[in-house]
Amino acid sequence: MKTTHRATFGGRLSAVLVTAGSAVGLGNIWRFPYVAGENGGGAFLLIYILSVLLLGVPIMLSEFAIGRNTHRNAVGAYRTLSSRWSILGYNSILAPLLIMGFYLVVSGWTLEYMIHSLTGEFTRISTPEAYESLFNAFTQNPWKPLLYTVVFTLLTHGVIALGVQKGIERSARIMMPLLLLILVVLAVHSILLPGGTEGVKFLFAPDFSKVTPSTVLTALGQAFFSLSIGLGCLVTYASYFKNDTNITHTALQVAFIDTLVAVLAGLVIFPAVFSVGIEPTAGPSLVFVTLPAIFNTLPLSMVWSTIFFLLLVIAALTSTISLHEVLTVYVQEEWHLSRRAAAWIVTGACIVLGAAASLSLGAWQWLQLGGKSFFDLLDFVTANIMLPAGGFFICIFTGWVLDRRFMPAELTNHGALRLHLWPLLGMLLRWVCPVVILLIFLDNLGVL
Ligand code: PFF
Repeated sequence: MKTTHRATFGGRLSAVLVTAGSAVGLGNIWRFPYVAGENGGGAFLLIYILSVLLLGVPIMLSEFAIGRNTHRNAVGAYRTLSSRWSILGYNSILAPLLIMGFYLVVSGWTLEYMIHSLTGEFTRISTPEAYESLFNAFTQNPWKPLLYTVVFTLLTHGVIALGVQKGIERSARIMMPLLLLILVVLAVHSILLPGGTEGVKFLFAPDFSKVTPSTVLTALGQAFFSLSIGLGCLVTYASYFKNDTNITHTALQVAFIDTLVAVLAGLVIFPAVFSVGIEPTAGPSLVFVTLPAIFNTLPLSMVWSTIFFLLLVIAALTSTISLHEVLTVYVQEEWHLSRRAAAWIVTGACIVLGAAASLSLGAWQWLQLGGKSFFDLLDFVTANIMLPAGGFFICIFTGWVLDRRFMPAELTNHGALRLHLWPLLGMLLRWVCPVVILLIFLDNLGVL
């Protein structure tokens, strides 16, 4: 095992909270609840949990093992283990850069909406249509979203600039418990609304008639994005794990927190949506149009809506921090620059991409390809192509290419821990994961 001068996370709890911070994000809050509700509620949840355990956890463990073994940035980590496979490292840093392009824009919207809620601006609007035009006017305005994208990038930069321990670790130790607390408070409030239990039913009542092969693939794809699998985030964070971190426990705890947050988000959103008797929608309109309109009908609307958007800001921020860090530590170590300079280069690149993505929704509508705006294109290419491809090759790498003793050695901390699940895990990594990911991949591309 290599000893290095690199920073490490202080303790077990930090490793879990920081990694859960990357996993918990906008994907959990606006995507999961809707997908679950539409695809058979409790039945989907069951399939989702199986996907997390059978597919998510083995790949997460592979990425943890690669990062913790090498203690290097994503490119350096793959190159250290096999020079031929360093291309996987480049996929691992290119994907976060492209994700940042659109993720920062949406994160900027959450910040803007939090400020709108705080200043009471929403209380002056009354109809859902008015919220819709407000949202369209805002996202298509050339300057405002750009400004918020830049502000959000600088917020992320601020945490990264403070360093691994004082920035990333400390912020996660504050933000993650706060996020959980806000979620629980909001969920209890939602469920207690008149008619709220209908929303709980929508999310949990199992409807197996809605389960089709494509539901299974949807669940797998959602698990994939939600756990931040297939790019350099988990490798990079694990490079800061201590050598005695139990990576199996860490992976299970992160998977548990990520799923818990997704379910709690559903318990915030659906009871509220059903209490006013409207059809649930997906994506941006659920969070930026439907929910503010609902909050507005409740007593203390300003408070609930501010807290809700604060929740989104926190969830987004812990994810953008992880994406930024993958790139920063790559530039720092591979280009031999100071962390400060590296962070500024990454921030600059993110601002350029984020600005282009944001403008492609309004003033720069010419910035599109095949009918997709640059914003949508970044989302499509990363979620549908780069992440599944990354996950697939990671399984091949740890399951087939590396020495057969590599994974068991990392899982047991070189013999210090007992190995319980290896035969099952080995089979999942070598056979089940690659085949299933291939299916998701083909399905996403519309081949199946
Ligand atoms: N897991 C995050 C979410 O659910 O919103 C998104 C994400 C963050 C994906 C970081 C990938 C990543 F590396």
